[in-house]
Amino acid sequence: MNVSEMREDIDHILISEEELQKRVAELGAQISADYAGKCPLLVSVLRGSFIFMADLARQVQPFCQVDFMAVSSYGSGTVSSGQVNIVKDLTDSIEGKDVIVVEDILDSGNTLSYLFQLLKARNPASLKLCALLDKPSRRTKPITADYVGFEVPDKFVVGYGLDYDELYRNLPYIGVLKPRVYEK
Ligand code: PRP
Repeated sequence: MNVSEMREDIDHILISEEELQKRVAELGAQISADYAGKCPLLVSVLRGSFIFMADLARQVQPFCQVDFMAVSSYGSGTVSSGQVNIVKDLTDSIEGKDVIVVEDILDSGNTLSYLFQLLKARNPASLKLCALLDKPSRRTKPITADYVGFEVPDKFVVGYGLDYDELYRNLPYIGVLKPRVYEK
């Protein structure tokens, strides 16, 4: 399957490349202002956030550090199983650090509420959440992001890091997947 074949599985583009770049630059500027004089640690939650993280980190002006964590809760389905697995933990300690968790999407909140509990117990100086996409209509856990790129409707979105069954992550935009793709 190549990119034009992938395009046929997309019902419509929800957020274009240009809109993504503009909003990511705004988020970077906001984080830069809020963390002036500090050295935040950006924690990318793999795999979905890898493209957002790469773009966001380049828009952050103060010194910053990066680390990566991989969690999994969806498997190949479209609904969170509720069970969060740490597939890869952070490389370094976060004690005393100003941590910003960078996520592609905040959906039910299961993953992030679990992760925040885990990270808080490691005594960071501060802990914030930056989510590119927020689907508040699906929230079952009381968690909100400190920085949000876009609020999105309850549609199955892919691209710019987000997958369905591990595909579509390399689309340069956020698109809504045709239901026939996941209903087959
Ligand atoms: C996605 C996303 C978040 C989580 C959000 O990860 O990256 O971690 O789901 O959903 P929630 O708010 O309902 O918990 P996914 O498990 O699909 O893994 P991936 O990042 O490897 O795509």
